[in-house]
Amino acid sequence: MKTTGNISEIRKFLKSEDTGSIALVPTMGALHSGHMKLVEEAGKHGDTVVVSIFVNPLQFGPDEDFDNYPRDLERDLEICREAGVDYVFHPATEEMYPREPELDISLKSMADVLDGLKRPGHFEGVVTVVNKLFNVIRPDYAAFGEKDRQQLMIIQRMVEDFNHDVEILPVKTERHASGLAKSSRNTNLSDQEVSEAPQVYKGLKLGQEIIHDGEKDAGAVIRGIKNYIDAHTSGKVDDLQIFSYPDLDPVDRIETDIIIFIALQYERARLIDNLLVEIS
Ligand code: PAJ
Repeated sequence: MKTTGNISEIRKFLKSEDTGSIALVPTMGALHSGHMKLVEEAGKHGDTVVVSIFVNPLQFGPDEDFDNYPRDLERDLEICREAGVDYVFHPATEEMYPREPELDISLKSMADVLDGLKRPGHFEGVVTVVNKLFNVIRPDYAAFGEKDRQQLMIIQRMVEDFNHDVEILPVKTERHASGLAKSSRNTNLSDQEVSEAPQVYKGLKLGQEIIHDGEKDAGAVIRGIKNYIDAHTSGKVDDLQIFSYPDLDPVDRIETDIIIFIALQYERARLIDNLLVEIS
């Protein structure tokens, strides 16, 4: 496995070697088995797998957890080595942003909802860095997790709007046996919070059950989930909404496939999760 934090070096590696098709897995490190599912999927498509590790300051708000974001490069490299990753690109901030960018990528309606509203500038930061990573690595495939469903949908749209020559590989959310979605941010939960965090997914499953039992009113489903989460966790429900799938339109009556999105705020971590509910 080759590793570098240098843009010209990773380009040189990828150009000079017989890489075949390249599959990229963009990450912010603190790797866990969710990220490794992406690596696995990348390996099924690409001849060469590149993992990028970069905690992108542009996608964190001023009051967010950029400083507290877990970082352990040596451990991450070990995990990548064991997984058979071919290259790890781990640039420093100055390598990715040697100076203040002059050009901004702005988003319209897809960032007007959910985390786009709650975290102003977040998705602009995400698309900027992913755009740069695509230009540096020039992957044929790139894997993204359904755990960050809004991010995945926005990246798919960016590829379409900007004609990136890359196929996006969506990957199902990897969960603990308890149902809790694997997340780098879980390490910022207290023991008490860890023990109750699985209720987030249980709340989503409850919503699915309510819908499958015939409830069509999105507000009633939301209330059912909210009551459950409030009763079973000490976290604050920061967001809980139902949107149509795949258009991401607001929904009052549930007639077609929908996604339930939730964000639960704890003291040092904001947990997000979502569940696609198919209406047959
Ligand atoms: P990060 O949170 O490190 O996640 C990297 C990728 O792993 C994302 O595509 C995310 O959806 C996926 N992922 C995280 N947890 C997962 C889980 N439990 N199951 C499946 N996939 C999971 O998302 C980012 O970094 C950044 O925004 C990034 C795209 C790298 C841009 O900076």
